Amino acid sequence: MTPDLMEDGERRARAHREHKLKGRTHSGGRAAGFGRPVTAGEVDVAHGRILYLEDVSVSFDGFKAINGLSLDIAPGELRCIIGPNGAGKTTLMDIITGKTRPDAGTVFFGSTIDLLRYTEPEIAQLGIGRKFQKPTVFERLTVFENLELALKTDKGVKPSMFFRLDSGQGDRLAQMLHTIQLAEAVRRPAGTLSHGQKQWLEIGMLLMQDPKLLLLDEPVAGMTDEETARTAELFLQLKGKHSLMVVEHDMSFIQSISEIVTVLSEGSVLAQGTLAQVQNDERVIEVYLGR
Ligand SMILES: Nc1ncnc2c1ncn2[C@@H]1O[C@H](COP(=O)(O)OP(=O)(O)OP(=O)(O)O)[C@@H](O)[C@H]1O
Ligand SMILES: [Mg+2]
Repeated sequence: MTPDLMEDGERRARAHREHKLKGRTHSGGRAAGFGRPVTAGEVDVAHGRILYLEDVSVSFDGFKAINGLSLDIAPGELRCIIGPNGAGKTTLMDIITGKTRPDAGTVFFGSTIDLLRYTEPEIAQLGIGRKFQKPTVFERLTVFENLELALKTDKGVKPSMFFRLDSGQGDRLAQMLHTIQLAEAVRRPAGTLSHGQKQWLEIGMLLMQDPKLLLLDEPVAGMTDEETARTAELFLQLKGKHSLMVVEHDMSFIQSISEIVTVLSEGSVLAQGTLAQVQNDERVIEVYLGR
C-alpha cells in the first residue's frame, strides 16, 4: 500500500469517527427522537403539550371507531374524557399506547416523540402507563410484593433474582403505600383486598414506574361511594406530578376531579370545556347526558 493510500484511509477513518461522535452528542434535536428507544426523562414538553393527537382515524371492518380526532393535553393536566358507549374512548387509549395502529393521523408524546413509530412495550418504557378497567394484581402476592415487583420491572433497575430494595427504593415504596392508602394492608395477599383497594394497588404499581402520562379507563367502576371519593383525592394528589387521562361514566366523580372535560361521540371530539359548559351543550345533552 502506498503512503498516499494509507494517509487517505486514515483521513476517512478519522472523519468517520468524528461523524459518529458528533451524531452521539447531537441528541436534543427532533430527528434524534425517532427510531430509537428514548428514556422517559427526555420527553420534550417545551411546546406545552405532553400528548398531541391530530386528525386521527381508525376503522374496524369499515366502521370508523375514531374519526378525525384531534386532542392535546398539557403537562401535569388531569383531563377527563366522557361520552356514550362505543364513542371510541377505549380505542383512543389503544391508539396512544400502541395497541391499535390508526389508519391516519398524528400521535406525539411531547413535541419530538412520534408514538406511531414505537411498539406497545416501547411506549410503556417511554413513560406512558395504562390502567385497564379490571384490576390486574398478583392475587397470591402481598401488597408489598406487588409493589416490589413493579419496581423490579422498572427500566432503571437491573432485573435480578437476588433483587434487594436499596434505601431509596424502600422509601419510595413506603411513600407509595401511604399515597394509595394501603399501608395497613402491606402484608396482606392482594387477593384478600376489596375491589377498590386492588384498583389502588394497581395504580400504585403503575406509579412505581414513574409514568409521565397515566391513562385510566373507568377507574371507579364497581367501587363503593367511599372508595370513589378516596380515588378522587388520589387523582387530585397525582395531578401536577403526572399527566392523567381519565375516562369515566360516573358524573359525580368527574365533577369532583375535573378541570377540562372532553366529550367524545362517534369517534371525534363533540365538545370540550368545564363540566358545567359541556353539561349545558345541547349536542352533549342530545347524545349523552339526556334531558
Ligand atoms: N379491535 C376492535 N375490533 C372491532 N371493533 C372494535 C375494536 N375496538 C373497538 N371496536 C368498536 O369501536 C367502537 C368504539 O369502541 P370503544 O370500546 O372505544 O368505545 P368506548 O367509548 O370505550 O365505550 P364504553 O363507554 O362502552 O367503554 C365500538 O363500536 C367497538 O365495538
Ligand atoms: Mg371503553
